[in-house]
Amino acid sequence: MHRSDVPDGTALDAHMVRFRFGDGVLADLPDVLDEFGVERPVVITDEGIEAAGILDRVLDELDRPVEIHYATTEPSTADFEDIPADADGFFAVGGGSCIDTAKLAAALAAHGGSAREYLGVDRVPGPITPLLAVPTTSGTGSQATQTAVLTHEGVKRGASDESLRPDIALVDPTLTFDLPPEQTARSGFDAFVHALESLLARDYRTVPERPITYQGANPISRSLAKRALALVHGSLEAAVASGDPAARRELSLGSHLAGAAFSLSGLGAVHALASTLGGLTDRPHGACLAASVGVGLAYNRPDREAEYAEIARSFGVNEQDGRDNGSDPATSAEDLLAECDRLRSAIGLPGSFTAVGLDRSGTDEIVANTLLQERRLATNPRTVSEADLRETVLAAFE
Ligand SMILES: [Fe+2]
Repeated sequence: MHRSDVPDGTALDAHMVRFRFGDGVLADLPDVLDEFGVERPVVITDEGIEAAGILDRVLDELDRPVEIHYATTEPSTADFEDIPADADGFFAVGGGSCIDTAKLAAALAAHGGSAREYLGVDRVPGPITPLLAVPTTSGTGSQATQTAVLTHEGVKRGASDESLRPDIALVDPTLTFDLPPEQTARSGFDAFVHALESLLARDYRTVPERPITYQGANPISRSLAKRALALVHGSLEAAVASGDPAARRELSLGSHLAGAAFSLSGLGAVHALASTLGGLTDRPHGACLAASVGVGLAYNRPDREAEYAEIARSFGVNEQDGRDNGSDPATSAEDLLAECDRLRSAIGLPGSFTAVGLDRSGTDEIVANTLLQERRLATNPRTVSEADLRETVLAAFE
């Protein structure tokens, strides 16, 4: 029988953020602001970006007055009171927290209200104030997505709406060339998990309550995720170890494509767990993902044996270790788990919940908060029950 993932009666949507990629595309900023009629933009950035000299590089390109607003590292719904609501455009210069803050700021400028009212799915009434994104890390892919992550009452929540996609992203890999190794590792591992979870997400034909913002893995998202995964896996260690420009460029494009992929498919249990850890510990997202990836992948393994094996083969793991285990899917699925753990350890990220500062006494809270991550769990390949989740969480302390 011919098997295909091409729709046979189920419609697919393919929203994508327009983007320019390449060394030096930052110089297009004035033209882009003109195109969107932005005369008095608000720049959303953070102090780290300023200290690294990147904000100055951006301001040097500009030919008009700007107002600068500093985002917090872990934005919360309480952070929007002093952002000007009368700006005619926003541009974010930074990582995910700056871009996510700018998304909500642009929604509030257009529609008013409070940030908390936008949490959830499809809560933005219509188009937002023009929004440009200039990512300075190769990680979150937020410049390519329709979601902003904000902490609300101690829990990381999402505002997802197609209106929150930036109008354009200028992805200039040279902005990442001086990123320190620890940040390259954390943000790059985020991109790695985006590509991996997008590729493995529940098939779009079995995601309940379609249409939703995240549709499940489909022919379009899989194409993007596969290339993204190859680019990120192939470049992350070199980008961390030596900062090699060629590796930086691959990581930059890979992280953007991974964002585009998961914005269509959705993610899964690894992100659900990591979001919970982030809300409870304030540890960076990439560290929380690293602590969650092993148990998350192990949980989904029964439903994805063949896919894990295929991904391990695409990484060349069998060639590396000299074993010919391609015909044994169980063994090869194990290879994917081993390779993810090797990569995590090679770039110096934590490998357990204990290593991000939690202990078993927090199990109930971790389970309860993870079950609140509905948009992640809806596209996880395997259904998540409270009992299974508790077992997974307990295993993550080992
Ligand atoms: Fe992420």
